[in-house]
Amino acid sequence: MYINFWYPICTSEELVQDEARRAELLGVRLVAFRDNDGAAHVLSDTCIHRGGSLSKGKVIGDCVQCPYHGWQFAGDGRCASIPSMEGKTPPARAKVDSYPVHEQYGVVFAFLGDLPEAERPPLPYVEEFDKEGWRVGAPIVFEVDAYYERSMENGLDPVHNEFVHPSQGSPRVNEDQIDIQPNDWGAKFMVDFGYTAAEARQKIVEVDESANLRAGTWYTGPNAMVTGIYLPGGYSFVQYFFEAPLSGGRTRIYFINTRNNTLDPESDGWIVETNMKIAREDQAIVENLWPVQTPDTLTRELLTPGDSVIVKYREDLTDWQQRGWRIDWDQMQASEHKAAYAIPSPARRESGNWVLEPVPLLSEGQPVAAAKSA
Ligand code: FES
Ligand SMILES: [Fe+2]
Repeated sequence: MYINFWYPICTSEELVQDEARRAELLGVRLVAFRDNDGAAHVLSDTCIHRGGSLSKGKVIGDCVQCPYHGWQFAGDGRCASIPSMEGKTPPARAKVDSYPVHEQYGVVFAFLGDLPEAERPPLPYVEEFDKEGWRVGAPIVFEVDAYYERSMENGLDPVHNEFVHPSQGSPRVNEDQIDIQPNDWGAKFMVDFGYTAAEARQKIVEVDESANLRAGTWYTGPNAMVTGIYLPGGYSFVQYFFEAPLSGGRTRIYFINTRNNTLDPESDGWIVETNMKIAREDQAIVENLWPVQTPDTLTRELLTPGDSVIVKYREDLTDWQQRGWRIDWDQMQASEHKAAYAIPSPARRESGNWVLEPVPLLSEGQPVAAAKSA
């Protein structure tokens, strides 16, 4: 798991005005709430007084109030009030980490890291969102008992479709034809599947059975992925997946489906159903992969050219680790119940004096990096 990327925290609908909401991601606890203007904020959930959970408290005006002794924290993380010290200014150290937030596409995203704005990887842009002639569904959220990197790699694997997705006609791909194009924060591949007899397609349009289906996937950062499916005749589906690693073995997936056909709202139902059927086929596989997390060395799996996008993804993960962004999960697990960590927020680069320890990070050159790229 990596700091310094955008992560989905909850849907806009889930973040109700006047209610604090807990989210657990990357091994830490977060609290989300809306201020008086409805703007969403995401803070570290652990109260720096004596460890109260802010998400179990109340929202009072523009602040979230700890349920234990009533300290109030504003959206920027600063403690605005300590009731037992009435009339006194809270000490400078009374602050929790606050993360940059973008609420878009019906999802509350937070940048979990300390990079200044100019250096941050982008939040993937759903270009169909306001585009004429496209319909964008409400986010579909589901959880899987799988590690998020395993789930991402499943999406970057064009070969599995033939075996895992019979309802889609078991589309076959020639692994020599996988063409990978790197971009700033990830890579893209496109392939032709020599078949078109998918259930979904048959509902949309009658086309020449010999025409090819073109599809591809691109990822941005460790946890965001887009799949484009292009049917003959210009009928397209572009699907966005934003993955939230809840723990070392569970992932919450936010799925936004866009389409330039069958634009009537009545079709939303069967399109969601079709997609969830496919998602459940994938789920049955990724929930049973062993080990739960990807091995740290490529030599513990036998990869073939069909896995080339996955190899590229792992190279990028190694690159982000070498920048010092990979969380030292083993160390976090070893101190479970003993230490509360916070993901460092951008404010940590501007001021010191923080109460919580930052999450332990693997530093550049540690053995896992070398093994991954071996
Ligand atoms: S623990 Fe939060 S106010 Fe005391
Ligand atoms: Fe799949």
